[in-house]
Amino acid sequence: MDKLLIEGGARLSGEVAMSGAKNAALPILCASLLCAEPMRFSNVPQLNDVSTMLRLIAQMGVTVTPGGEDGLILDSQGLDNPTAPYDLVKTMRASILVLGPLLARCGEAKVSLPGGCAIGARPVDQHIKGLQAMGAQIRVENGYIHATAARLKGARIVTDMVTVTGTENLMMAAVLADGETVIENAAREPEVVDLANCLIAMGARIKGAGSDNIMIQGVERLHGASHSIMPDRIETGTYLCAAAVTGGQVRLTNTSALYVDSVLQKLREAGCQVSAERDAIELVAPARLKAVSIRTSPYPAFPTDMQAQFMAINCVAEGTAVIRETIFENRFMHAVELIRLGADIKIEANNALVTGVAHLDGATVMATDLRASASLVIAGLIAQGETLIERIYHLDRGYERIEQKLTSLGAKVSRVR
Ligand code: UD1
Repeated sequence: MDKLLIEGGARLSGEVAMSGAKNAALPILCASLLCAEPMRFSNVPQLNDVSTMLRLIAQMGVTVTPGGEDGLILDSQGLDNPTAPYDLVKTMRASILVLGPLLARCGEAKVSLPGGCAIGARPVDQHIKGLQAMGAQIRVENGYIHATAARLKGARIVTDMVTVTGTENLMMAAVLADGETVIENAAREPEVVDLANCLIAMGARIKGAGSDNIMIQGVERLHGASHSIMPDRIETGTYLCAAAVTGGQVRLTNTSALYVDSVLQKLREAGCQVSAERDAIELVAPARLKAVSIRTSPYPAFPTDMQAQFMAINCVAEGTAVIRETIFENRFMHAVELIRLGADIKIEANNALVTGVAHLDGATVMATDLRASASLVIAGLIAQGETLIERIYHLDRGYERIEQKLTSLGAKVSRVR
């Protein structure tokens, strides 16, 4: 298993390009299941989660062809096996995103029920309830969701909580349904909007994506289209935190400040100067950051996927920060690893109290999930001496060429095989 070795202390500086968004690419690749014509995608990030999704849909009969640099062509004409087996679903929960499109296109789907997850129980009851409201017959048997529907019917759906992939699954199901579907309490995340834009390019009729009320007028069929995946706002936030903690100065390109408002605001509060151009963000960090408290919430508030990285920067900031996690019930596993590096963190239920220390010391630590791994990388960059991060397969799920990108900014990072 690969490990990441970081020698702390280098100040990050320079320019690096961000990749396409993992959380936009995954639902958008699933959208290609909705039509029998080729779909062309660009700015697709090369990540393990993307490869898993491609393997999943290829075994359903979809043809996957490379389409130039960071490009892909997906042809679902031969889709004949609307099944998502346990072996693939267990490695990536986002596999549930095939459920809505398969049911809408094929009238049936058999998708393994995702199990528990390191950061929380993460049920998919809202996906199932929404599809049932659209007339789907669903039974859960032997660990699989079996869904059938001659043709889904438009419905008014109010989700119990804001769910990102739930909103995406229901939106994809509704585009081929008979009549109008309204999703209330919908997720407003930019990735939902990117998916809606791709579906609209395929001929779908969607209004309101980006608000909490999405209206979808079902159509008979969709056609092939081209779509460029939006930039990854969590990768962007992570590199900004990495630069900030090292007192660095960086310019991130192929990204947009539009999607990271809440994160930029907190970085400014921490003492960084941040300026935004049309598709780039520049950050100049002070010698030492000030502690910043955060509370995670659905978009446009502060993202749970940036919580761990902000815990890492607070470990060495001046003062004390309160970090409150409201989305997932078990998303502080990085705290114990950060404590092994010398951080002062006290956890009580879903609150973490982080008091900045003068310095962290390098040690061997273990990555427990994707964003937890990112927080350990950030801590390793500032820790004195060497930090060895184990189980970085988590990191490879969501950060494209992370060691090359960090090295290009002057970090001393290498992969140990
Ligand atoms: C997505 C993101 C993930 C991010 C999360 C929250 C993708 C592929 N992943 O995950 O990176 O951390 O949004 O921003 O886009 N819930 C239920 N029942 C459901 C669905 C959700 O109880 O049917 C709960 C979850 O357990 C969680 C909360 O709702 O507590 C929000 O989860 P959700 O937005 O669905 O997360 P994902 O879409 O899985």
